Amino acid sequence: IKRIGVLTSGGDAPGMNAAIRAVTRVAINSGIEVFGIYDGYRGMVEGRIEPLTRQSVGDIIDRGGTLLGSARLPEFKDSTVREKAIEQLHKRGIEAVVVIGGDGSYRGALALTEMGINCIGLPGTIDNDISSTDFTIGFDTALHTVVDAVDKLRDTSSSHHRCSVVEVMGNRCGDLALWAGLACGAEIVVTAQTGFEETEVLERLRDFDLVRKKRHAIVIISEKITDVHMFAKKISQTTGFSGRATVLGHVQRGGSPTPTDRVMASRMGEKAVDLLMQGIGGQCVSIRDNAIVGVPIEEALNIPRASRRQLQNLFDRLV
Ligand code: F6P
Repeated sequence: IKRIGVLTSGGDAPGMNAAIRAVTRVAINSGIEVFGIYDGYRGMVEGRIEPLTRQSVGDIIDRGGTLLGSARLPEFKDSTVREKAIEQLHKRGIEAVVVIGGDGSYRGALALTEMGINCIGLPGTIDNDISSTDFTIGFDTALHTVVDAVDKLRDTSSSHHRCSVVEVMGNRCGDLALWAGLACGAEIVVTAQTGFEETEVLERLRDFDLVRKKRHAIVIISEKITDVHMFAKKISQTTGFSGRATVLGHVQRGGSPTPTDRVMASRMGEKAVDLLMQGIGGQCVSIRDNAIVGVPIEEALNIPRASRRQLQNLFDRLV
């Protein structure tokens, strides 16, 4: 293999730059030319593709976001759109591509592989929602951001006998909420996996106030479950706490990646290049029990993860 491309797709995640750097440097040091594809699959279709050098990926390991830009391109499901993209790759002699992104990006990578361009996916998303891998690139950094914010909210909540309702990202995956709940000693965690019974949560908050005599309560809730501002009002109306809602939003996607994310991204980038050099495509790189492995993309999207249940049980035993 002589030429590969690399792109970032979907929501950006801290550590994507470290992954781009690793792919580029490992490939160049193995005698492979590397091309950066800008703004995900959109740039591939539009031919916005430029060579990357050792230097052009210098000084980025500590930077959040993605040097290549990212985008979502739902039209990539359409095979005629993919054919245009493949034409652009052929023009430049690019034989294979590393796709850094979430599960939507993996579907595109699989479709391209089936059309003759070997692709390897790297899990770049703060959501930690790719079931083949214990961790995704960006999750650890986003978790640090959430924990930092919740620690601060706890200070002011205690002073004012408040309940802080904190909405975190994660799409439909509760990992950010659950890990943050564990790390911050939250009173309640609500995720798609726990379900949300509003009256039951309010009842528990009354118990924290009246029976457990808590000065504050922290409720960490995944996005897309309820209107947290309305919920905070109900807390003020029906419990002894006054409720306040904070939506952390896109602040969770930014910032300098943690050392854990940088190192994991580097290990994963190396693995992606090694797989392509072996002529393998249609796989995604995953970390399992601290080993970096390649997993077929179809499988990757459907493996249940037992560890989540264990963490939820732990949370319940710590409250
Ligand atoms: O997948 C990452 C993510 O930040 C999700 O947590 C969130 O639901 C979504 O992207 C937000 O997307 P956008 O940046 O397009 O608003």
